[in-house]
Amino acid sequence: MQDKSVTNREGFTSNIGVIAATLGSAVGLGNIWKFPYVTGENGGAAFILVYLICVTLVGLPVMIAELMIGRRTKRNAVEAFEQLAPRKPWFLVGVAGVISAFLIMAFYTCVAGWVYAYIFKAATGSISSTQTKVTSAIFSSLSKSVAQPLFWQLLVLLVTGAIIMTGVTKGIERVTKILMPILFLLLLVVDIRSLTLPGANKGLNYLFNPDFHKITVTVILAALGLAFFKLSIGMGAMITYGSYVSDDQNLPATALTVMLSDTLVSIMAGVAIFPAVFAFGIKPDAGPSLLFITIPAIFSAMPFGNVFMVLFFILVSIAATGAMLSLLEVPVAFMREKLNWSRAKSTVATVVGIALVGSTATLSNSILANVLVFGKNLFDFYDFVTSNILLPLGGIFIALFVGWFWGYQNVKQEFSNHGELSNDGIHKIYMFLVRIVAPIAIIIVMLAGLNII
Ligand code: PFF
Repeated sequence: MQDKSVTNREGFTSNIGVIAATLGSAVGLGNIWKFPYVTGENGGAAFILVYLICVTLVGLPVMIAELMIGRRTKRNAVEAFEQLAPRKPWFLVGVAGVISAFLIMAFYTCVAGWVYAYIFKAATGSISSTQTKVTSAIFSSLSKSVAQPLFWQLLVLLVTGAIIMTGVTKGIERVTKILMPILFLLLLVVDIRSLTLPGANKGLNYLFNPDFHKITVTVILAALGLAFFKLSIGMGAMITYGSYVSDDQNLPATALTVMLSDTLVSIMAGVAIFPAVFAFGIKPDAGPSLLFITIPAIFSAMPFGNVFMVLFFILVSIAATGAMLSLLEVPVAFMREKLNWSRAKSTVATVVGIALVGSTATLSNSILANVLVFGKNLFDFYDFVTSNILLPLGGIFIALFVGWFWGYQNVKQEFSNHGELSNDGIHKIYMFLVRIVAPIAIIIVMLAGLNII
């Protein structure tokens, strides 16, 4: 019992710490792996434009909503709702969040496993080639084998589990503060290399020159889903992190900073990948393998490429690890506080659960390739069902909860830290976004995108 309010609530210690940790959750495989390939599958610049609208009008309000709920209650995603709305069904939003955490981790740990494997492959020089046929064959042989990717996935789980087990808030804060700037600088190096490849401007054109005919409801749903996934919202991760934020932090400013920085990292990853995609003649819609085909080719075409490549995959793995810590923390905080389990027991239970579901995602590239759910293999299914259904659904309820149930006075207090900050004016615009714009936009996009209307 004693650890309920003590260890779990050590909390982030500074403004920069809060931003670094929250950004550590937001920045991950979503920026470097998913953003480029989903952009590639959905036609480039027009998709990015829709994405920017989604993060601004829907993502940001929901992110602020989650941080406010967490900070006010200082509880995990399920109990936060129970505390603010006793004996009402709102806690189910938190329960859905815990389920989402397992499903996202299932494929996320698989991809993180590929990234870990690539650190070693880069170090031994076995993936160096400017021939994308070669880099693509190397990737296939990893992802389509059985034991190798399972081994790396398990390693990922052991590493993240070990960090979570030792308690995270100070660790996350300290590590992310140093690593985020390094990741940024290294991306800049890759950007410059990619931009100076012959034919690079085609990639820039693809990224920044929108063709509005390419916008369909499926594209909009994909952009909305990516916005949720990217900002780690709709499943209580930001409620959980909000619960570690002290009462004097400026939540709307934090969320805005995180949203803008996160988007910048995604665009930088796009600038790293797409000029190379066109320079090397790769198809932009190559899907989840895009990163693993292009990056080795880019680095192989530069001096000391191998050294930079190792460094690059190390940083991607660290970014992924930061995001996974927040994913793990959702079920772990829930089990600790709700079921009164120790941190160790909660972590082991979570890791074992994820290993079981996660192995089915990994094996869906090999022996389980024929198992299809709604026409998708398990990897794609977990991805689709979380990003495009569970997270946006969670987002609707979180927005409705804060906008209508929790209401104006509470939002006003949280925005101004009970009168301390000058954020008071903008809470009116915020109320409009969170009450009306966000829920209606999500509902329409989901219904249309899922072919229900
Ligand atoms: N935002 C992370 C990324 O873009 O890689 C993924 C993520 C983390 C999603 C935490 C959801 C979450 F709760």
